[in-house]
Amino acid sequence: MSKRYERMVRDFQLLCESGKALEPDIHAPILIDPQAELTFAVWGDPQIACWSALRSMRFDSACRDIANMQKPLDALILAGDITETGHADEFRMVSEILNTYGESFRHFLCVPGNHDVRLRSYLKQLSVFNEFVRSIPGGIAGDDSRYFHAVRMRGYKFILMGSDRSTFEGAYISPRQLRWVDEQIASENGKPVFVVNHQTLKGLNGLPLTWLGKGDWRGSVGWESDRLRAVFEKHRNVIFLSGHLHYGTSVYAYEDCGAFKSLSVPTVGVVNHGDVTDDAQGYVLSVYKDRIVARARIFGQGKYVDETVPNARIEILIEK
Ligand SMILES: [Fe+2]
Repeated sequence: MSKRYERMVRDFQLLCESGKALEPDIHAPILIDPQAELTFAVWGDPQIACWSALRSMRFDSACRDIANMQKPLDALILAGDITETGHADEFRMVSEILNTYGESFRHFLCVPGNHDVRLRSYLKQLSVFNEFVRSIPGGIAGDDSRYFHAVRMRGYKFILMGSDRSTFEGAYISPRQLRWVDEQIASENGKPVFVVNHQTLKGLNGLPLTWLGKGDWRGSVGWESDRLRAVFEKHRNVIFLSGHLHYGTSVYAYEDCGAFKSLSVPTVGVVNHGDVTDDAQGYVLSVYKDRIVARARIFGQGKYVDETVPNARIEILIEK
């Protein structure tokens, strides 16, 4: 165990014992509707950092909320930026916390974010990432040559995307990955399919305002944004899930783009911007035969976001 990791664990434990840790309410846990075919939580950006016990504490509090459930989630999904710098010690901290609550979810899926991939050689970082995913109970990783891969859960396909190069802020989505995403969606023949990528598309989910107003592509996938959008627009019932914006539940969280629906989830580890700034937010999705219901939850407090907040509760009707 490295000295750095020992320090991370010590600082995290001290914070948890200090009385300043978030304590999710245990009286109103997430309830799984037996009518739902699939129930999962999706969180953005834990961004666990060697130097921030606060982020680890927020992430841990969110995990404690799902540990209060009577039945496990079908899946816990992280939409990228698992770590601040992609360092193995940061991944190890996330793994340590998730392993503590491993009975709270049946499967664990995640995609890389720009922070996870940007500082080291591509293949080396991919192997650190996959090793991390495999260390989590129910963790499903792709092969060791690329980030993108697909998983089927309870009959629904999840397409997990990831940059094909080490990129600093956006993602490089190669023509090969774009073709693959297209084929993967097409083979579902209109059945709802969930596509997870760290960054949303250009101009969606309040961009550029939600990226603090900078540049017309910043905060998005980047140069391949229009090409990816064109792929989604060929199909129907595509549910696109992303993070990266660190923006609390708001009017920007969800956009119905017709062929595809774009849900950008808040961060579970870093500070959320906007009007709802509570720590450790995310969404719970319940999938029914005819609709999908997404509810914003402040996991760190163990409660759903008040339904007067725009997009606290979203109902997506499945197109026939
Ligand atoms: Fe990011």
